[in-house]
Amino acid sequence: MRIGYSLSTFNCQLSTIMSVHQSDFQSKVTVNTLLDMKKRGEKISMLTAYDYSMAKIVDGAGCDMILVGDSASNVICGNSSTLPITVDEMIFLAKNVVRGVKRAFVSVDMPFGTCSGNPEKSLEYAIKMIKNTGADSVKIEGGEELIEDIRKIINAGIPVVGHLGLMPQSINKYGGYSVRAKEDAEAEKLISDAHLLEQAGCCALVLEKIPAVLAQKVAESLTIPVIGIGAGSGVDGQVLVFHDMLGINQGFSPKFLRKYANIGEVATNAIQQYIKDVKSVDFPNKEEQY
Ligand code: KIV
Repeated sequence: MRIGYSLSTFNCQLSTIMSVHQSDFQSKVTVNTLLDMKKRGEKISMLTAYDYSMAKIVDGAGCDMILVGDSASNVICGNSSTLPITVDEMIFLAKNVVRGVKRAFVSVDMPFGTCSGNPEKSLEYAIKMIKNTGADSVKIEGGEELIEDIRKIINAGIPVVGHLGLMPQSINKYGGYSVRAKEDAEAEKLISDAHLLEQAGCCALVLEKIPAVLAQKVAESLTIPVIGIGAGSGVDGQVLVFHDMLGINQGFSPKFLRKYANIGEVATNAIQQYIKDVKSVDFPNKEEQY
């Protein structure tokens, strides 16, 4: 009797816990969810994805944000920088990603040249990207120089994720991918830009490859979530590139990157085994044919 009672109580409690957890897990992440997470001190997880299957894996695993990054120019298209990827190419990738996502907040990068100090034109591109992809927001690299463009896009109802620190679209200006804002003048400009982006209404900010102390100072002084890549642990969340963290992009090993798997090696071994099996007529066997 007592065992029956405690078991059913336990089952009831368990199903309540599970249904709360499941609805939390499945409800769509919005700009409000991200702000709440920052307020609660819950760290935000973000990864890139560039196609439907990748997006399903990242979203299904429970990642809070998915970025259709213009890093696709490197890891998908094989370019040496993010500069060549076009609006139409980004739209093609992002609309397939969005089809694979149920829960995560999806942001799509405005590619190089689409947001460059002409607010009317920038808004046109942003609307084109949102209309054609169904993404939840656009991400824009830059601060004060682009603040009018960013304000115009936000005023039109499109959430914007800012991006400061190392901005790969400005690689030719920097002359390399080294750590940014190590000197006082650049650090002060970054802090001022971060506040301008928050005042303009950005829903989040990505900080790339800057000193951890500076990134923490920025995160602590803003109310919007700050997501870091190579910016230490004192920020509100982390973002990595799918191909880098899974070891698919094998030659890329910056200090900030943690590789969670070696899919490149697993795939190579599997493909070599397949080639052997084809050549030796081990594949297909009797069970693998009609
Ligand atoms: O394009 C991208 O993947 C990015 C991340 C590195 C933040 O901008």
